Amino acid sequence: MLSDAGVLNAWHELGMKRKDIERLAHFAYHPKDIAATIASGSYLTEGMVIAPCSMKTLAAVAHAHADDLVSRAADVVLKERRRLVLVPRETPLNLAHLRNMVAVTEMGGIIMPPVPAFYAQPKTLDDLVEHTVGRMLDLFGVRSAKLKRWQGLKRTPAEPD
Ligand SMILES: Cc1cc2nc3c(=O)[nH]c(=O)nc-3n(C[C@H](O)[C@H](O)[C@H](O)COP(=O)(O)O)c2cc1C
Repeated sequence: MLSDAGVLNAWHELGMKRKDIERLAHFAYHPKDIAATIASGSYLTEGMVIAPCSMKTLAAVAHAHADDLVSRAADVVLKERRRLVLVPRETPLNLAHLRNMVAVTEMGGIIMPPVPAFYAQPKTLDDLVEHTVGRMLDLFGVRSAKLKRWQGLKRTPAEPD
């Protein structure tokens, strides 16, 4: 599901149109399609990731304000006690943002800011994105071969060069 604001964003940042992104997915739903399968708890899913998650959609999820398919599907995932992961994209945060993150966490959702993992020593932006996506998939028990897992320090600063 790509929101209308998400379409603007994808166009500005990636030069991609809705169709370009939907073509990458096995299933695509329009956010206005409130009668889609995922709007009902009887339709089985493992859960849902909203990535990136705007502060507006975070607010909608935190307050069960399910006025489009994104917020309704997230509402369903929470009520069915399935896995919900929100990847917020905003900084700095105001008190409403923080309170909404607490509310979602209290309901069992996971707030996962896409914080760059510098310990994995990324060389490119793709490395950073792959790491975040790998950690996101971990939350669903899906293991990505591309994820560089922490193996401990190779050398300690106390060791001679
Ligand atoms: C190019 C662009 C980038 C944006 N980036 C963000 C962002 O990083 N975080 C955010 O919370 N809102 C951002 N916004 C504002 C949201 O798009 C706006 O709040 C919108 O109502 C969110 O709707 P949605 O959650 O249905 O996608 C951005 C808007 C545009 C046009």
